[in-house]
Amino acid sequence: MSRSGRFFEDIPDRRDTNSLKWGKYSGSDVIPLWVADMDFKSPPEVVDSAIQAGTFGNFGYCKCPEGLEEAVIQRCVDLYDWRIERSWLVWLPGMVCALNACCRTLEKESSQVFTQTPVYPPFLSAPGNFDLPCVHIPMHLNADRFSFDFQSMDELPTQSSDLFMLCHPHNPVGTVFNREELDRFSQWTLERNLYVCSDEIHCDLLLEPGLEHIPLASIGPEIADRTITLMAPSKTFNLPGFGCSFAIISNGELRRKFKKAISGIVPDPPAMGFTLAETAYRTGEPWRLELLGYLKGNRDYALEELGRITGLTAYPPEATYLMWIDARELPVENAHSFFEKAGVGLSDGKDFGSPGFLRMNLGCSRDLLVQALERMTVACRDL
Ligand SMILES: Cc1ncc(COP(=O)(O)O)c(C=O)c1O
Repeated sequence: MSRSGRFFEDIPDRRDTNSLKWGKYSGSDVIPLWVADMDFKSPPEVVDSAIQAGTFGNFGYCKCPEGLEEAVIQRCVDLYDWRIERSWLVWLPGMVCALNACCRTLEKESSQVFTQTPVYPPFLSAPGNFDLPCVHIPMHLNADRFSFDFQSMDELPTQSSDLFMLCHPHNPVGTVFNREELDRFSQWTLERNLYVCSDEIHCDLLLEPGLEHIPLASIGPEIADRTITLMAPSKTFNLPGFGCSFAIISNGELRRKFKKAISGIVPDPPAMGFTLAETAYRTGEPWRLELLGYLKGNRDYALEELGRITGLTAYPPEATYLMWIDARELPVENAHSFFEKAGVGLSDGKDFGSPGFLRMNLGCSRDLLVQALERMTVACRDL
C-alpha cells in the first residue's frame, strides 16, 4: 500500500476555525468524514500565492487573469486532448450555482430534468428551483461498479430539449465513465435531442493510472453543441472556500442563454479565487500527483477495513476521495445516526436519493481514517 506523505502529514487542526466540516461536530469528538473538502493544506505554491495577495492588501474588483484562461485551455489539451476556445469559457463563483444556472438556462425549453441516482444532492434540488420535474434514473450496478442503466434509459419517455444532468466522474459512486459508455450516452442524448449539463468537477482526481477523463463534449461536435461542461480547480486543489469555477460552452446560442441566465444574479469569482486557481493549475501538478497516491492509499485501506464489517458493502471509487457504502444489511434502524453515535460523521445516503447508504470522505490523514474505521469496527462488533 503506497503511503506518500510529503505534503499530507502536515495537517492543520481545523477545529474551531469556522470549518463547515469540523464545525458540525464542534464540542464533541465525532470525526467528520462528510462534506467534500479535504483536511490537507493546498499546494505550497497556492498557499504562498494567497500570502502574497494578502500582503499586497488591495482587494478591489478584478477580472479573470489571461494567464488563467491560457492555463485552462492548455490543461484541456494536455490532460484530455480537448481543444477549446477562450470565448467558450464562462466564469462562476461555484459549481452549485452553475448547476442551477443550467436549469435556469433551459427552464423554458425543457419539460423535465433527468439525473442518475444516487447523486450529489444539488442535482436533485436544482430542477425544482425552476419548477422542472426531476426524473431519477437509478444507476446500474455491475460487480462493484455503477454505470448508466441504458436498458431503462432506452424505455424512458423524453421530450426534445429536456435536460440531463450528468456527474462525470460521479459523486458519490466514483465512476469514471469510459469512452464506450460516453459514446453510447452521447448517442442516446442526440437521438432524443436532449441537452446535457456535465459536471466534471472531480475530473482530476482519477485514482487508477489506467483511467482517463474524457470530457463528454470532447466526444464530437454534435454532443459538444448540446453540452454545458462544468469544471473547477476547487476539489482537486482543495480550494472550495475560494469559489472559482467555469463553464465551457462551445455552442454560441446556448452560451448566450447561459450568460443571460446568470446575468445580474451570479457574480464573478472573487479575486483571490482567480489568483489561486491560476497558481494551482500552473504549479500544482507535483502536489496533485502525490495527492492521488495518498488518496489511493486511503481508499485501499478503507476498502479493506470496511470489507471486514458484516453488513456493510463498500464500493471502490475510480475517482474522487469519496466512498459509497451500502449499509442496508446492518441491523440498525438508521446507519447514519448509528455511526454518528459511535463517533464517525458520514454523509447520509438519503440526501443523495438512496436511503440506507452512506458516503465517507477519505480526504483526511491516514491516522484520522484509521481512528474512524476502528470506531466503526468496534461499534459493529457489538451488534
Ligand atoms: C459533483 C459536484 N458538483 C458540485 C459541487 C460543489 O461545488 P461548489 O462548492 O463549487 O459549489 C460538489 C461538491 O462536493 C460536487 O461534488
